[in-house]
Amino acid sequence: MDANLRSYESRDRGALLALSRRALAREEEQVGAPLWASEEELDAELAGLGYRPADTLRVIEEEGEAVAFGGIVVADGATLMGPLVAPRFRGRAFGRSLLEASIELARERRLELLAASLGAHNIGGRLLLERAGFRPSGALQAVYRILPDAHRAIGQPSEGVTSRMAETADVERVLAICNECFAPGTSSEESWRQAIERRQVRLAEQAGEPIALVRVDLANRRVFHGVTAAARARGIGGYVLSEALEEYWRLRPGTPLRLMAPAANVAASRIYRRQGLVPWLLLQLFELAL
Ligand SMILES: CC(C)(COP(=O)(O)OP(=O)(O)OC[C@H]1O[C@@H](n2cnc3c(N)ncnc32)[C@H](O)[C@@H]1OP(=O)(O)O)[C@@H](O)C(=O)NCCC(=O)NCCS
Repeated sequence: MDANLRSYESRDRGALLALSRRALAREEEQVGAPLWASEEELDAELAGLGYRPADTLRVIEEEGEAVAFGGIVVADGATLMGPLVAPRFRGRAFGRSLLEASIELARERRLELLAASLGAHNIGGRLLLERAGFRPSGALQAVYRILPDAHRAIGQPSEGVTSRMAETADVERVLAICNECFAPGTSSEESWRQAIERRQVRLAEQAGEPIALVRVDLANRRVFHGVTAAARARGIGGYVLSEALEEYWRLRPGTPLRLMAPAANVAASRIYRRQGLVPWLLLQLFELAL
């Protein structure tokens, strides 16, 4: 039977999860997206897209089964998903076709950039991306997995640090911390405004000055954590993160989260490990100018 490239359908869910878990389990196959380890994570991310998954996700079907998967996610720019090809079906240009289809999906939407990320040891994926014109961007990133049961809460380092959900009036203060803490292009101003409106950004203050923030995106379960230079090395950053995570899990018990930080940021890695966050993947980011 011929292979058939078509839109994602909900019946592909099991095959997709198996492909994602396989890639996650092998350094040489890791991708930055998807990072689905459970059905629950896959369902949450697809439900949170804000559009039909079939609009931007593609599968290749053969023998009545989804054997390869790819596409893009459009949220604050476009990010490549996969491609992931079941081992038995590799070497038949399925990966390349899905990558081409993904680039086309981004072009159709008149986007300027397509972002991608790959495990630092994924040589096959890198060759595939570079042949399609993608270029590495920025330093290696560590992705930490945050499991509620493994989290060790941190006590308040000093009186006078308070935190609350950021409100619309805090936008400029939040953006100032973002500009100081995150690499340009990490996340757009518009997405921070939306996250504030959705009450996903917690702002910490000391003596009335904003000193740190934590944002948790509901759909892809990604955590952003930023601490101003003035507040670093005083136990504040770890505490603010810990408090935000515990608060998040009070409302949504059991939800695994993830956080990305430059692998070379030793201070961040110490904070995260101390509270039980587990380094999970090492990623190289890529970009394709469209
Ligand atoms: C990488 C992957 C998607 C390739 O799928 P595939 O269908 O076998 O790839 P194709 O047949 O379309 O080959 C396309 C190109 O991939 C590259 N490639 C893929 N795997 C490779 C490997 N192990 N060694 C060398 N080159 C490789 C080659 O550049 C090849 O180009 P060529 O045919 O001109 O030599 C597949 O091996 C896979 O699912 N790997 C795990 C997940 C992953 O790495 N995804 C890539 C994300 S960008």
